[in-house]
Amino acid sequence: VRVFTWFILKLFKVVSSPLGKEVCYQRLGCFTDDPPWSGVPGRLLTGLPDSPEHMNISFNLYTRETGNNSQVISAINSSTIQKSHFSLRRKTSFIIHGFGSTGKKGWVVEMCLLLSEVENINCIAVDWQEGAKGTYVSAVNNIRVIGAEVAYFIKTLQKIFRYSPREIHLIGHSLGAHTAGEAGRRIQGIRRITGLDPAGPYFEGTPPEVRLDPSDADFVDIIHSNAAHFPAIGLGMYNTTGHLDFYPNGGSVMPGCTDFIPEMKQSDFEAIIADATIIGGCHHSRSHEFYFESILHPTGFLGYPCETYKSFESGDCFPCSQEGCPMMGHYADRFPAKLKRVNQKYFLNTAADPPFATWRQKVFIKLSGVKKMRGDINLVFHDTEGNTKEYEIASGVLSQDQVYTKYLDVEINPQNTKKIEFLWNKTIFTLKILHCGQKTQMFKYKPGNNCLERNTAVNNLECILFCHCKTITTQDKASLIPRCITRSIV
Ligand SMILES: *[C@@H]1O[C@H](CO)[C@@H](O)[C@H](O)[C@H]1NC(C)=O
Ligand SMILES: *[C@@H]1O[C@H](CO)[C@@H](O)[C@H](O)[C@H]1NC(C)=O
Ligand SMILES: *[C@@H]1O[C@H](CO)[C@@H](O)[C@H](O)[C@H]1NC(C)=O
Ligand SMILES: *[C@@H]1O[C@H](CO)[C@@H](O)[C@H](O)[C@H]1NC(C)=O
Ligand SMILES: *[C@@H]1O[C@H](CO)[C@@H](O)[C@H](O)[C@H]1NC(C)=O
Repeated sequence: VRVFTWFILKLFKVVSSPLGKEVCYQRLGCFTDDPPWSGVPGRLLTGLPDSPEHMNISFNLYTRETGNNSQVISAINSSTIQKSHFSLRRKTSFIIHGFGSTGKKGWVVEMCLLLSEVENINCIAVDWQEGAKGTYVSAVNNIRVIGAEVAYFIKTLQKIFRYSPREIHLIGHSLGAHTAGEAGRRIQGIRRITGLDPAGPYFEGTPPEVRLDPSDADFVDIIHSNAAHFPAIGLGMYNTTGHLDFYPNGGSVMPGCTDFIPEMKQSDFEAIIADATIIGGCHHSRSHEFYFESILHPTGFLGYPCETYKSFESGDCFPCSQEGCPMMGHYADRFPAKLKRVNQKYFLNTAADPPFATWRQKVFIKLSGVKKMRGDINLVFHDTEGNTKEYEIASGVLSQDQVYTKYLDVEINPQNTKKIEFLWNKTIFTLKILHCGQKTQMFKYKPGNNCLERNTAVNNLECILFCHCKTITTQDKASLIPRCITRSIV
């Protein structure tokens, strides 16, 4: 009886003597807190993961058939998978939430509903709410078991249903990103992992096996939205950790978020959140909001390869090279050069409000007539539905013959642009770009002359020329010569 009891204990639950620093769980194996799991730079924490039963992890299936009425499926009882709407003919995505969150409602469910609608996939919302609601440190420990459970689920699909990991995409936010990494470490050949602002505290600077890294799947793409980077403190990682790392708006502070960010050192911040039980974070959440919108607006999130955000802002990395630019978010995997390298940074700007998509354009304008005058030149984009967005090109003292250049992140898709207007101190000049044919080109495109030294046909660059248009003259005889708008084409 004693041997039997020992066996049951060993098999079913815990070998967790306080000195042992190891815990073992049925099906999943043992978890130690030896290095690198603790006691390495960036990861001076203690503790072991809770049991799967304690965390009440569940896999909630959404398909076109289920709609909002998800089906709970389990790898422990594979007949639940068989009896569900899970289809072996479809691709499968797992959506994994982070600290203090849930997989039963909110963005995880919204994402599954959208993905299954748009792409007819099996979408599995992974819920580990019970393991995510303690302190931040306990949640950090718990994701090792959650990652092992996701891996166990995928192994079951592989073994019992001959379903290939190449059909699987893991999408995780914050601690969920590293959970996906842990699953990917345990299973070879997962097609893709998307890390949505992977958690920074206890992961930044740690060895690859502890965190999400490019070896965890065939393709790993990352969106950084609250990267801890002085002077910004943050919940996300700053360093690159995938094949393609996107830094929208620089990756740390997101427009439209009004969260108060106190001034403190990241290390002090980490000490505070170690014991925290709730973390909001508008900046942090933007990563999954961007991903969601990228499903609906594929071309509105083009990432430009650049060394720094500052350099991107000043226009250095515009337009895209011959290789093209990847799209941040859902369609990042369409980038032909996606596996060419790791640790590559891509920058873009987003709008402050949903749908967040923007299309970067370069505008050239030349002033002639009077020598100098005060004024401002704005550009107004109109879409086919009657929405308008206005952007300033130049203001203050404007000089004759000077070419004004501006990079705009326009919130209107060029495909839906009906017209572009120049507002020049109340004088309006309208450019009907749809009629911009070859017929009446006033300003011919000359390579090397204001327009970029590239032709329309090459390098994915489109140059909208201002044709059939006269210069506009105001009462005081100054006139405006619009030259060219360029943008990269996907
Ligand atoms: C555990 O999960 C099951 C199935 O999702 C649910 O019915 C139950 O209420 C959960 N228990 C707790 C304590 O959250
Ligand atoms: C699911 O619920 C959301 C609201 O929570 C609703 O907007 C949506 O239309 C529902 N979708 C389906 C397929 O029932
Ligand atoms: C497995 O799931 C099926 C329903 O899908 C249920 O009828 C059966 O009782 C379950 N078996 C066990 C051992 O829980
Ligand atoms: C960032 O990543 C690079 C490449 O993996 C690595 O060499 C460097 O040490 C990392 N820096 C930090 C602070 O983790
Ligand atoms: C527009 O022009 C008038 C004079 O014609 C000038 O007084 C005014 O400051 C200008 N407005 C702007 C915004 O530059």
